[in-house]
Amino acid sequence: MKLWGGRFTRSTDSFTDHFHSSISFDSRMYKEDILGSCAHAEMLGRQGIIPVEDSQLIIKTLKEILDDIEKGNVSFDEKAEDIHMNVETLLISRIGDTGKRLHTGRSRNDQVALDIRMYLKERIVDIKALLKELMTVINNIAEKNISTVMPGYTHLQNAQPVTLAHHVLAYEEMFKRDYARLSDAYKRTNVMPLGSGALAATTYPLDREFVREALGFESITLDSMDGVSDRDFVIELLSALSMIMMHLSRFCEEIIIWNSQQYKFVEMDDAYSTGSSIMPQKKNPDMAELIRGKTGRVYGHLMAMLTVMKGIPLAYNKDMQEDKEGVFDAIDTIKMCLPVFTRMIDTMTINKDNMRRAARRGFMNATDAADWLVKQGVPFRDAHAIIGRLVLYCIEHEKELDELTLEEFKAVSDVFTQDIYRAIDLDTCVNSRTVAGGPSEEYIKGLVELNKKYLAELD
Ligand code: ARG
Repeated sequence: MKLWGGRFTRSTDSFTDHFHSSISFDSRMYKEDILGSCAHAEMLGRQGIIPVEDSQLIIKTLKEILDDIEKGNVSFDEKAEDIHMNVETLLISRIGDTGKRLHTGRSRNDQVALDIRMYLKERIVDIKALLKELMTVINNIAEKNISTVMPGYTHLQNAQPVTLAHHVLAYEEMFKRDYARLSDAYKRTNVMPLGSGALAATTYPLDREFVREALGFESITLDSMDGVSDRDFVIELLSALSMIMMHLSRFCEEIIIWNSQQYKFVEMDDAYSTGSSIMPQKKNPDMAELIRGKTGRVYGHLMAMLTVMKGIPLAYNKDMQEDKEGVFDAIDTIKMCLPVFTRMIDTMTINKDNMRRAARRGFMNATDAADWLVKQGVPFRDAHAIIGRLVLYCIEHEKELDELTLEEFKAVSDVFTQDIYRAIDLDTCVNSRTVAGGPSEEYIKGLVELNKKYLAELD
């Protein structure tokens, strides 16, 4: 008979059992379920709600069950629905009536809310550690490429020269924000719901503070109906994970472009590339493409969960069982993508010469040429027009600005002197942008140091 079978006269349809059972995916919360039950049992004993000896036997047996699960000696039963009832069934099969006392003052509704919070807390910590490794690698790449000049783009058109350090540190900023978002999501996950019961708490004198403390939570939920029906923390985490994937995906997209034959800015290591079954010459950036592709599934889980929650009345409804597969898959996905991406960029070859050569073409120094004229007293709009005319002249004569003779410059404006050449030199263009946030060596060196300090002090 089912643990809830008292008021039933016939058993559930076996296909229905298969349909509504969640053990195939919530079994991964076995440890959280058992530790949560141990804390609950201990509290029941201390409060005199059940005999202390019963509480002790329950805890001892639950720990044995945990051990057996970890040794692979337990097979779960779909008929027992979920991890909560599988563990309870195992407990009762081992210690009989004493095991039946565990569920006093508790519902699966507050139990599942507890388990998922415990499970997610631990994974947030893991993902933060992976992000920290990625940020360390990015900062190292930056440190080695403070003077690696490369083209900066807008609209994927040549714009102004930057450095590789400046470029990758933009991603460092994104991942710093992601890290902070995870810390923030953790705070709202770190709230203990047990004691909410099915929805209206319980008549037993539970000591919720004891359970909170025993399980390492920061605070307890303050309204039992919210305690069992809140899944905001799942959505917040999915949202933070989606944002991480979005950042990884943008970076992957750039790496795919940089790795192409037309750019050749970087080359992926063989260990992170794949070949073609037909074209012998091919070496494809599949890992970067796959990470870009997997972004879609994480976004999908976020959208699914927002949709699952949008029409559910208070308090618990079975719809909420749909929270787990999506968030578990999002976590699994990100725990694969982050280390693959980190190693992929850590091992890629950076072709500094190609980057610099590309930055020399396409009039990346046109703004600097106009700015030089402004410094000689020409109004900016006039300077813009003068350089525009020179660019047109260069396109017609297949030259870059710095290849023009002084006579050619002077033919458009007599303000030009020999000094223009130094002003539009690539390194000058980069290093005179000393304003905070800019690509100059001086500023970027400081930013790399700031990031080192940030990384060393991360919790
Ligand atoms: N497996 C269920 C879930 O994941 C546990 C809670 C079931 N509660 C209920 N009243 N049916 O949501």
